[in-house]
Amino acid sequence: MWTSLAITSLLAASIPIPSILAQTDSQGLGWHFVQNGSTQLTALEAIVVSPTLLVVFDRVRGDPLQINGHQAWGAIWNTETNNVTAIDVLTDSFCASGGFLSNGTMVSVGGQPVEIPDGETVAPDEDGLMGVRIWEPCLDPAGVNCTLFENPATHSLAEKRWYPTSLRIFDGSLMIIGGIRINTAFFNDKNLSTSSFEFFPKKDGGIPRPSEFLDRSLPANLFPRSFALPDGKILMIANNQTIIYDIETQTETILPDIPNGVRVTNPYDGTATLLPLSPPDYIPEVLVCGGTNATDQITNDDVGAALSSQDPASDQCTRMILTPEGIEKGWELDDRMPEGRMMPEMILMPNGKVLVINGAETGFAAIATVRDPVGQSNADNAALTPVLYDPAAPLGNRFDREGLPTTDIARLYHSSVSLLPGGNIFIAGSNPGRGVHLDDKFPSEFRVEYLNPPYMTVPRPSLSSAQKKIGFNERFTVDVNIPEGLNASSIKVSLMDLGFSTHAFHSSSRLVFLEATLSEDQKTLELVSPPNNRVYPPGPAWLYLTVDDVTSKGIQVMVGSGGTPPLPDEGVPIPLRK
Ligand SMILES: *[C@@H]1O[C@H](CO)[C@@H](O)[C@H](O)[C@H]1NC(C)=O
Ligand SMILES: *[C@@H]1O[C@H](CO)[C@@H](O)[C@H](O)[C@H]1NC(C)=O
Ligand SMILES: *[C@@H]1O[C@H](CO)[C@@H](O)[C@H](O)[C@H]1NC(C)=O
Ligand SMILES: *[C@@H]1O[C@H](CO)[C@@H](O)[C@H](O)[C@H]1NC(C)=O
Ligand SMILES: *[C@@H]1O[C@H](CO)[C@@H](O)[C@H](O)[C@H]1NC(C)=O
Ligand SMILES: *[C@@H]1O[C@H](CO)[C@@H](O)[C@H](O)[C@H]1NC(C)=O
Ligand SMILES: *[C@@H]1O[C@H](CO)[C@@H](O)[C@H](O)[C@H]1NC(C)=O
Ligand SMILES: *[C@@H]1O[C@H](CO)[C@@H](O)[C@H](O)[C@H]1NC(C)=O
Repeated sequence: MWTSLAITSLLAASIPIPSILAQTDSQGLGWHFVQNGSTQLTALEAIVVSPTLLVVFDRVRGDPLQINGHQAWGAIWNTETNNVTAIDVLTDSFCASGGFLSNGTMVSVGGQPVEIPDGETVAPDEDGLMGVRIWEPCLDPAGVNCTLFENPATHSLAEKRWYPTSLRIFDGSLMIIGGIRINTAFFNDKNLSTSSFEFFPKKDGGIPRPSEFLDRSLPANLFPRSFALPDGKILMIANNQTIIYDIETQTETILPDIPNGVRVTNPYDGTATLLPLSPPDYIPEVLVCGGTNATDQITNDDVGAALSSQDPASDQCTRMILTPEGIEKGWELDDRMPEGRMMPEMILMPNGKVLVINGAETGFAAIATVRDPVGQSNADNAALTPVLYDPAAPLGNRFDREGLPTTDIARLYHSSVSLLPGGNIFIAGSNPGRGVHLDDKFPSEFRVEYLNPPYMTVPRPSLSSAQKKIGFNERFTVDVNIPEGLNASSIKVSLMDLGFSTHAFHSSSRLVFLEATLSEDQKTLELVSPPNNRVYPPGPAWLYLTVDDVTSKGIQVMVGSGGTPPLPDEGVPIPLRK
């Protein structure tokens, strides 16, 4: 059902030469892992906040990175210098989530209670379970003077949330979903579950909305995989269950379960992504991969007897088209991954393919609870070679590993990964252990690695735009430069939210293809923005141009008015757009 973008090109004729990427590896072409720099803490959460910077978070357990006389558990990573700068975070952000609001501010929510580092008597942190951490747009390329604002007295969640999901919705607010009220060894628990939704900024006078779905999907339902659909409703997957939640009518509609008993949320982490949305219909389709078919009919007390670090992870992928007809069909079995994966992540690439990376071939998420942990890791057999998935390829041909390199750095529990504005991939973290432990098979991992796609080593197209703000259903132009030798009849323009990465999920990650027309002189692209604020929730985005499978660097734009949420509906309904 995935249709590739129809491009109207005014180009009279293209030069018949083979794609530049078809050349051989001897010229430095191809995919490469490049290790550079150290975060000096475990980057278990990561979000791109500017052309050069990511914000990363960890826990309070003895990391080397220091600030103001104590261990740092937040930092800025600079992709230009490959250097880290500590941030003085107030509340404990361990296993929090986050995302951007419509006004460009990034908000981190939830976390854990106060934690006293080993060998110390004083906690450097404050309780983070209801934490709200605000990162205002940071304009300095090195992050000078950029910092988090926190004031628990005036800014906090309504409920305690460890392991929640947060997601930008159609009015530019964050919806905050689920979690647990206190740390758990493995599963969520009926008595402790935060089975509700709330919003930032607050709605409903700050009263959370109870969710039957979050109760029903216990106990393996942490970090619910949640997506803003192009009609504004929210798709949620937790354990092996699926619903659509209508924020406006406050109703949950039950969709089919994931087939074959496969479960995909923490501590049974598979992953999921909304596939790229394409004009003119923007038909939503979700892809779910990995996780486990282990039983959920056990309690925390049974985990030691029932589960092993050697239990194979699921290699199953399934898709569902989220139209009435698609839902009627339910989950459709897709191609299997080349190997099973617990804790994989999926990265939307600007050309519309999906990179599956990280995780383990056996075991589970969480720490030292299975009968045979490896060190403290519940997972073993790290998956070290990523694989590309092409949603538009015919069934049977969707996974392709040709040319993808293998790393020697395992990225298991508490790792993060993100597409960067530069078009390459940032990979950090992994710490399947309670504190810093450097001599285990799967140690606390501070090394940063980049995965560079083939287009990083060839002349690339570029985009430049004077217009930093884009309305909905708006025609606008950007200047382009297309290197000689690329087939300019083959262009794709993607508008992307790079998402917030943690625990094998990339919340708010999104790719919307734009209608694009290249001028005859190939110097200008005329683009049409998404029809309305439900197709792309208002907020920051990156615009990439892919010509002949060579992708430009992204340029940052603000989609919508840039105003503070909640924002009113804007644009035109999908079927009515011109
Ligand atoms: C250039 O791209 C267009 C659109 O994908 C395709 O139809 C055409 O065959 C390509 N030309 C060459 C020379 O590869
Ligand atoms: C690591 O990054 C720094 C800063 O960008 C750069 O100067 C250095 O050459 C890089 N090292 C490697 C091995 O790529
Ligand atoms: C890296 O950061 C440290 C402190 O955060 C600073 O002292 C050092 O000069 C920086 N190095 C580079 C290459 O920017
Ligand atoms: C950072 O803040 C200090 C103190 O307010 C100011 O002197 C300095 O110019 C600022 N630097 C930048 C790059 O904004
Ligand atoms: C939940 O609380 C009830 C009442 O206190 C108790 O009987 C039950 O055992 C608890 N369940 C779990 C899973 O702890
Ligand atoms: C989903 O999990 C529940 C609870 O373990 C189970 O009863 C149900 O059969 C599962 N659904 C499918 C389709 O396997
Ligand atoms: C569970 O998954 C494993 C690993 O993929 C597979 O070998 C096994 O057949 C599955 N069991 C069921 C009942 O589907
Ligand atoms: C965006 O909105 C939030 C919530 O009202 C507010 O805390 C933040 O300061 C705003 N940011 C900007 C840049 O106006």
